[in-house]
Amino acid sequence: MASNSSLVTTTTALFSFLVLYLAVSFSNIAAKHRHSTTTNHRHSAISNHHPHHHHTAAPNPRLQQAYTALQAWKRVIYSDPFNTTSDWTGPSVCDYTGIYCAPFQNNTHIQTVAGIDLNHADIAGFLPDELGLLSDLALIHLNSNRFCGILPLTLSNLTLLFELDLSNNRFVGPFPSVVLSLPSLKFLDLRFNEFEGTLPPELFNVNLDAIFINNNRLRSVIPSNLGSSTASVVVFANNNLAGCIPPSIASFANTMEELLLINTNVTGCLPNEVGFLYKLRVLDVSFNKLVGEIPYSIAGLAHLEQLNLGHNMMSGEVPAGVCELPNLANFTFSYNYFFEEEGVCGNLTARGLVWDDRKNCLPEKRFQRSKKECDVVLEHPVDCFEHPCGGEKHVENNHEKHRT
Ligand SMILES: *[C@@H]1O[C@H](CO)[C@@H](O)[C@H](O)[C@H]1NC(C)=O
Ligand SMILES: *[C@@H]1O[C@H](CO)[C@@H](O)[C@H](O)[C@H]1NC(C)=O
Ligand SMILES: *[C@@H]1O[C@H](CO)[C@@H](O)[C@H](O)[C@H]1NC(C)=O
Ligand SMILES: *[C@@H]1O[C@H](CO)[C@@H](O)[C@H](O)[C@H]1NC(C)=O
Ligand SMILES: *[C@@H]1O[C@H](CO)[C@@H](O)[C@H](O)[C@H]1NC(C)=O
Ligand SMILES: *[C@@H]1O[C@H](CO)[C@@H](O)[C@H](O)[C@H]1NC(C)=O
Repeated sequence: MASNSSLVTTTTALFSFLVLYLAVSFSNIAAKHRHSTTTNHRHSAISNHHPHHHHTAAPNPRLQQAYTALQAWKRVIYSDPFNTTSDWTGPSVCDYTGIYCAPFQNNTHIQTVAGIDLNHADIAGFLPDELGLLSDLALIHLNSNRFCGILPLTLSNLTLLFELDLSNNRFVGPFPSVVLSLPSLKFLDLRFNEFEGTLPPELFNVNLDAIFINNNRLRSVIPSNLGSSTASVVVFANNNLAGCIPPSIASFANTMEELLLINTNVTGCLPNEVGFLYKLRVLDVSFNKLVGEIPYSIAGLAHLEQLNLGHNMMSGEVPAGVCELPNLANFTFSYNYFFEEEGVCGNLTARGLVWDDRKNCLPEKRFQRSKKECDVVLEHPVDCFEHPCGGEKHVENNHEKHRT
């Protein structure tokens, strides 16, 4: 589906940034680690007459706790096809594949486990309660494994956790509310799992920068406090949120740059308040049941680069102000019921945009819907001022009327 590729492109940018950030911080950690190892070796070489083996200094209590945690984890790993964890033996946890140490913030003379990166390891297993012992973790990356079960509640002990990427695993159960108790969390990626049930409204009250929950089994209306979030990227795609996009979305204005609500079963009109999100670069509400007109306020989104309204039931005219947006590069509004393109909207090729206007009710254009198909919807326009959220019911009633 086209929406997937757009999702990937828009999120890739953020992730390349994160990967870069991680690579830098981890190479610093690794460099420090190598440095301290060589120092120890030199020291032991100089004093090699000494009876004690100083080069394997006893791990500090934090690393001992980490050892307990990682061994407990290894016991509940049932498949590790690339042997990623085969070197998870012995007390030197900082040497384990995928485990990254850094100086402990309260005592920089000792090392502690600060990061876990097991991306693409294809490991099958559980997350044990003992992971709560890794209380200094800043990063957990478990993208593309086969971890299953639920998240242990002991994760609430990870008060420094900044980034949690559990995407593309097999986690189940209700939305893991334990993540809402993590005071340092900024990046939450739960994409492509099997979380189900309702989305807790509290998700939007925590101080996250990025929320990726697409491709789960979450079934819920969009909470009316959606706008309390501080996130700049919110990706809800491919869940069954249903309900309307609440006007409270306006309070995202100071942070929101990408809003992706692809295939989330949202209904009603696109609220005028979408136009208040002045930092928005990507707005994708495709594959939903939105009705009514394009709010003219979108013409004020000076940073907007990608606008996808495709596969909805929207109608009315496509306003020139939207087509004239200075940064707009890709405007998709196919598979709706638009019947007029104002001004430059009629020839977006001339504006140098990538665009798609197929399957609408545009009399001058090719690849449009049949007159019959258009008449069903266009004879009963939805008034978004009167029915900002009730549009869907209105249209369904019209379908009923038409059938009888
Ligand atoms: C334009 O956007 C549509 C819908 O999001 C996407 O399928 C298409 O690949 C995009 N085209 C370009 C050139 O970015
Ligand atoms: C992992 O280890 C097992 C047992 O030592 C070995 O048979 C297998 O080839 C290894 N797999 C990889 C991908 O290295
Ligand atoms: C680090 O020090 C601060 C301030 O003294 C203290 O509040 C905090 O609990 C300490 N953290 C740990 C993990 O020991
Ligand atoms: C939480 O972290 C502290 C400090 O590392 C540790 O002593 C405690 O056992 C941890 N609690 C759990 C439930 O893992
Ligand atoms: C969308 O929501 C409706 C209720 O409004 C529900 O009946 C339907 O199953 C949902 N569709 C999907 C794909 O989840
Ligand atoms: C759209 O604009 C392009 C470039 O200016 C021009 O070549 C083309 O003929 C125009 N198409 C229509 C349908 O007016």
